[in-house]
Amino acid sequence: MNMFNRSAAFVFGASLFLGSAAAQAGGTVEVLHWWTSGGEAKAVGELKKTFEAQGGKWIDSPIAGGGGDAAMTALRARVMAGDPPTAVQLKGPGIQEWAKEGALNDVDDVAKKENWDAVLPPALAGIMKYDGKYVAAPVNIHRVDWFWANPQVLAKVGASMPTTWEEFNATADKLKAAGITPLAHGGQPWQDATVFEVVVLGVGGPDFFQKALVELDEKALTSDTMVKSFDQLRKLRGYVDPSFSGRDWNLATAMVMNGEAGFQIMGDWAKGEFLAAGKRPGTDFLCAPAPGNGYILNSDSFTFFKVSGADRLEGQKVLASEIMSPAFQETFNLAKGSIPARIDVPMDKFDSCAVKSHDDLAAAIAANSLVPSMAHEMAIPRTIRGEFLDAVTNFFNSDMSSADAVKALVEGVKRAQR
Ligand code: GAL
Repeated sequence: MNMFNRSAAFVFGASLFLGSAAAQAGGTVEVLHWWTSGGEAKAVGELKKTFEAQGGKWIDSPIAGGGGDAAMTALRARVMAGDPPTAVQLKGPGIQEWAKEGALNDVDDVAKKENWDAVLPPALAGIMKYDGKYVAAPVNIHRVDWFWANPQVLAKVGASMPTTWEEFNATADKLKAAGITPLAHGGQPWQDATVFEVVVLGVGGPDFFQKALVELDEKALTSDTMVKSFDQLRKLRGYVDPSFSGRDWNLATAMVMNGEAGFQIMGDWAKGEFLAAGKRPGTDFLCAPAPGNGYILNSDSFTFFKVSGADRLEGQKVLASEIMSPAFQETFNLAKGSIPARIDVPMDKFDSCAVKSHDDLAAAIAANSLVPSMAHEMAIPRTIRGEFLDAVTNFFNSDMSSADAVKALVEGVKRAQR
């Protein structure tokens, strides 16, 4: 069953204000993560600070590479070698996959004591648990379907934030004619897939997204709507600059900041970059949900691996407790660009993009239009996601037709399911 059962009745806005229990001092954690860009490093630095303030020892194991594909490869090697890190940035079905392999410790005693069930959206809590016990703790909720733009650049062609793909294309054409790169993009498979899923939401809407990218329904995957989605992706290919290949996502964000490009299509970790560079929403950069009337959800969490020894076990408990403390959830998310995973953290210190994300999330839950991210490993197993990334990247980097891309995608998905 898809863990993001969209009819799950989770209640947002409940004000419970349960403080986390006082954490005991001590413990050691080695934390494997992929947060190395400006905004990401600042955010993970907050976690380190919080943990160290409890007397703990933090060993940092960053594996560079946006989207975490390199980190996941490193993780497998560490587990195979019998030397897993204490805590790993890991999410979605990946948590369940590792739990099934018997590779995780649970932190359920901390979760029970602090009543995590009462302060997390049930759909998110479900992902953090295996066999009814918490094996991971969520730090945030990221939204994937965003347009980011430079208002000064848009003003050069008299444009405002687009609300449909037609408007986006029209503005992009004007920017191109004015000699400005319309779309800042980094040609890496996970970034191609991020743009692709945002397009699928916009072209097909949330129900179609759910059928095609989450349930892998063959009729949806082979539909005209999927062909049209690839058509729009082909249009976007025409809006990127010639040096897009292999570019890191944060460098693409910098292109928007510097006025070299009009837009970036990226999750709100891009906002973390703008903020880390001292830019302000509304004046230096603009955010707007991409078309589609949905909300593509991506939530980061730390998963606790099977380590032993009192010091490391203590470290896992302290880290779990600190991650879930309301004060940390506020500080961390103010830096990361996301919103808290806890439902009871006040939003008054957050900017207008975060408030929009928070409000739209509640609306999407009510309207049944919340969908989990395929590109960011919230929806489908890694093997199937890999087939999506291959098909989308091959399409983006060739002159393959949309119909052939659909064929390649469906064959890939079937192969991975065998
Ligand atoms: C996502 C992750 C975000 C952000 C992004 C780029 O998968 O959830 O927190 O770090 O990758 O690295």
